[in-house]
Amino acid sequence: MVTIEREIPLRLTPDSNPFLTGLFAPVSREITAEDLPVIGEIPKDLEGVYLRNGPNPTLEPRGRYHWFDGDGMVHAVAFHNGKATYRNRWLRTAGFTAEQEAGHALWPGLMDRPDPSVPTGSGSDGWLKDTANTDLVFHNGSALALWYQCGLPYKLDARTLETCGVENFSGALKRTVSAHAKVDEQTGELLFFDYATKPPFMTYNVVSAKGELVHHSVIDLPGPRLPHDMAITEHYSILMDLPLFWDPQLLPKHIHKVTYYPELPSRFAVLPRYGSTDSVKWFEATPCFIYHVVNSWEEGDEIIMDACRVVEARPRSAAGEGELARMQAFLRLEAQLWRWRFNLETGAVKEEQLDEAKTEWPTMNRQRLGRKSRYAYNAYVPKFNGLVKYDIEKGTSEEYLFGPGRIGSEAPFAPRLTTKDEDDGYVVTFVADANTNTSEVLVLDAKNFAAEPVARVQLPQRVPVGFHALWVPGTKLWA
Ligand SMILES: [Fe+2]
Repeated sequence: MVTIEREIPLRLTPDSNPFLTGLFAPVSREITAEDLPVIGEIPKDLEGVYLRNGPNPTLEPRGRYHWFDGDGMVHAVAFHNGKATYRNRWLRTAGFTAEQEAGHALWPGLMDRPDPSVPTGSGSDGWLKDTANTDLVFHNGSALALWYQCGLPYKLDARTLETCGVENFSGALKRTVSAHAKVDEQTGELLFFDYATKPPFMTYNVVSAKGELVHHSVIDLPGPRLPHDMAITEHYSILMDLPLFWDPQLLPKHIHKVTYYPELPSRFAVLPRYGSTDSVKWFEATPCFIYHVVNSWEEGDEIIMDACRVVEARPRSAAGEGELARMQAFLRLEAQLWRWRFNLETGAVKEEQLDEAKTEWPTMNRQRLGRKSRYAYNAYVPKFNGLVKYDIEKGTSEEYLFGPGRIGSEAPFAPRLTTKDEDDGYVVTFVADANTNTSEVLVLDAKNFAAEPVARVQLPQRVPVGFHALWVPGTKLWA
């Protein structure tokens, strides 16, 4: 049964903007659809919810729309008792609500300049709308929607997708949360950092399993930086100071020019879980940029970190190439799998490329986050036309390609109910099909990755191409 819960007519002109057309085009309806048709069979031991965040604007932008600007919308498919239910809802952020009430866009976008006449917003200079459109984590019984430029965590019910306000940890949240917070499944703790253009340039925080902010510290950096992700191990956190950041000479003029400084090293801060800037051990490595970490763990005196290293960190030249080129300069998400080893005793760093293929959007069995892991599930970039399962221990990989005209989403690992091995479970992804303008969810058997999906769940509407995804096991939702 398909129920249209709400429709918000889209009031924007796609013109030639590639992020408003085709498989990127926003949708106008919030839908609940139960008992979805399936090609194949939903495994009985697949219980939980697959959620994916992404931009879905409704209003004509003040300037040029950038893909990162759109209001967050979560699309989710719940798998329960062998049946699948689809829902999609806009995140009711303060910015979304204010603009819907106003009937027009209030804040400028990433391609524009700050406008002092509009309400104070969020992000680097407090001039953007916090859309919460980037990532999702599950902590203390709720999903949290997070924003790429550091925003307020919006809490939502993972079953209904209802937004339940801002999670400020009983008023203890000191600042903001970056897109990629980490949940240690063994302790239930939430670990996160944020960054800013004014001092302190970075803070680091730990929240207990019950939602109490138990640790907050300032991390000293030489200037404003743009780190996107962090890593955790059982006892340590790894924060990043990478040589790709806004030109600090231009920032005072509110010009945000992403610039690569190859003369600077990549710096990695390894600190104890409850450590502060004084207990950081800094490690220097070759200059690079990293969007996303696969996993990290301790091995003897070493911290191992596997991550996707951007192939060419220098932004494309924007001069004279127009706004679209400038927009795409932010989007160089072409990366390869690398391993870093940080020796806590000697201070030595070893860097090693693990694969030639260009892959990103890594996922893994999150029950092992911060502990030794062997498998990663990445997407081919930039086309997002297939997934790769890495066996990092063996140095092998298997792939599943979606087929012509089909684009996937970040594909989290969903452990079986009675999981034993690290890869004992499924990998789930939305696939949007340009041939039919429809979407489906693929359920791949992680142990038989190259095979046809065990289930293809047919969705009542296209799911636009988006950002990060999350698997919440059913044991946390309806035990
Ligand atoms: Fe990200």
